[in-house]
Amino acid sequence: MSHPAPAPVADNLIVYALRTVTEAAARAAYDWIGRGDKSQGDGAAVAAMRAALDALPIQGVVVIGEGAKDNAPELADGETLGGGTEPQYDIAVDPVEGTTYLAKGMTNAMAVIAMAPRGALFDPTPIYYMEKFAAPPAAKGRVDPEAPVEDKLAQLSKALDKPVRELCVYVLEKPRHKDLVERIYGAGARVALYPAGDVAGALMAAIPDSGIDCLMGTGGTPEGILSACAIRAMGGEFIGRLDPQLSGEKAAAADARIDTKTWYPVDHLVRSDTVYFSATGITTGLLFDGVEKTRHHTRTETLMIASPGGERQVLNTYYRRSDGATT
Ligand code: FBP
Repeated sequence: MSHPAPAPVADNLIVYALRTVTEAAARAAYDWIGRGDKSQGDGAAVAAMRAALDALPIQGVVVIGEGAKDNAPELADGETLGGGTEPQYDIAVDPVEGTTYLAKGMTNAMAVIAMAPRGALFDPTPIYYMEKFAAPPAAKGRVDPEAPVEDKLAQLSKALDKPVRELCVYVLEKPRHKDLVERIYGAGARVALYPAGDVAGALMAAIPDSGIDCLMGTGGTPEGILSACAIRAMGGEFIGRLDPQLSGEKAAAADARIDTKTWYPVDHLVRSDTVYFSATGITTGLLFDGVEKTRHHTRTETLMIASPGGERQVLNTYYRRSDGATT
């Protein structure tokens, strides 16, 4: 009797190794929670991430780092990381997604990274901002990103078989979204307004029954590619359009004739079925717990997603500390 060929599965060893990278960043950032200083926490996470990546037997090139927009510490675009020469990966990374949350001691700061085979990730240089639409798998291909907001909500309602009144849209609370938010309210849907953190918003939107039904609005491009990696891996809808906001990037987009009209589907932003994603909570948020330190251990919680297969795993790790350690 012949058996069907097994479905391809992800190399879980890689995603399992990648978790050490986001956990190192989250543990390093922990000491900067609630100290009013964005830069030091970001810097500590960047250094820890770089060291942890260099300990892995891979070669990765940062295609899209996060930090250039705000002149913050970063793993810079083009930087080669990893302690080996093969396999080769593109890296998208944000050592602290939610630096304001970290500095203010608020919920939802996380360390995040994604990898796909070399050449697979969309390189948006030099555009920092992207308009995004994310939703659960049932909405894939069923919402026209160019349609007016009210129509998008009607299309989503049909796709999810859920009245518009019960839809909840995640939007970053920014002046640029005033009209968007008013129109969502006008259409009768709810808005979950967060001052920062649209990676969490996009992932929540893609996970069915999470309480968030879609993400709309403009945020960082690196955060968009990171979200696209996770959503490509676990399934769901993600579409993005480059949307320059700063005068410098608007000029750069015009000079380089960068296409700011096309909405790119997730398969264009991440051109491989092989994708690895890891995110670790720094402060407790929508997706997972933050770092917890006691005299005896440091506990981290990490979300790992690997494709093909697309499983999500959440892992708690207890790092031993010397008995009675105070730092
Ligand atoms: P930081 O980690 O750089 O603070 O980014 C947080 C964030 O809210 C992202 O989630 C989002 O994509 C981006 O900033 C939006 O940028 P801006 O705050 O400049 O509108």
